[in-house]
Amino acid sequence: MSTNGIRGGPWPGQVVLRRRWAKGHARPWNEEVQAAGLRIERGGADFVDACFHWLVDRGCDEVLSVPVHPQGAGIWESAGFVPHTELRLLSRSLIDAVAEPTHHVRPGGGHGDWTAVAAIDDRAFDRFWRVGRLGLADAAAATPRSKLLVADVAGEPIGFVIAGISLDVGYLQRMAVDPAVQGRGIGRSLVRAALRWARRRGARTMLLNTQLDNRPATTLYRSEGFEILPERLTIFGRTAESRP
Ligand SMILES: CC(C)(COP(=O)(O)OP(=O)(O)OC[C@H]1O[C@@H](n2cnc3c(N)ncnc32)[C@H](O)[C@@H]1OP(=O)(O)O)[C@@H](O)C(=O)NCCC(=O)NCCS
Repeated sequence: MSTNGIRGGPWPGQVVLRRRWAKGHARPWNEEVQAAGLRIERGGADFVDACFHWLVDRGCDEVLSVPVHPQGAGIWESAGFVPHTELRLLSRSLIDAVAEPTHHVRPGGGHGDWTAVAAIDDRAFDRFWRVGRLGLADAAAATPRSKLLVADVAGEPIGFVIAGISLDVGYLQRMAVDPAVQGRGIGRSLVRAALRWARRRGARTMLLNTQLDNRPATTLYRSEGFEILPERLTIFGRTAESRP
């Protein structure tokens, strides 16, 4: 399959897009929003633009970037993308010890765990922010090393966190607690478990991002020692109608 020299796989699905040395990854944003999520591993604005056309040719209404650091914004802007959503970036030092979780949190990762946590994710996040199984798999694959950690009640998963580490930086990639049991300290235990997991593996800092209007999450993170960084991440978007 080829558009503008792009080679990809069957769409919709999780596809690797290539053109010469350039490489990107695309997947449906989620099952409810007819957009594609695009991550560029290597390549410039021309390649971003070609990926956009490849995806729109296959029926996507809109293409959205992964959250982009200000330093990486140029290629998206040059490819005709505009800011869609801003995210807050938070950081916490892992030099000092981290308090123990008060709820039991266990390592997860079996097929049953991924099915259960995808269902929790669907219930906890609103339509736009749901990522589905593919998005959770992406979150786990975003760092060379990662772990799914699960909180259970009576043997049933009721919350999870995906933690990752790359060099000496830990990442809290995704976290949710079933709405039926929110407000009981499970989220706090998951944050601590993620911090402890990363710290034991040599991370010196933990980073995460969250929506600007997510008060519960921001309040929780700040009360567990995270500080809000001055820079923000941006999800860039370009709609099919913007195509000349
Ligand atoms: C964010 C989330 C994981 C918190 O989980 P939780 O189990 O409800 O959180 P906890 O009960 O451990 O609460 C810990 C702290 O968070 C803060 N908090 C929780 N809910 C809050 C709310 N509705 N408003 C303001 N602060 C809140 C409080 O500081 C609370 O501490 P306190 O109980 O001592 O006051 C949960 O709300 C959730 O799944 N939200 C949807 C998904 C999401 O936003 N994930 C994070 C994206 S980055």
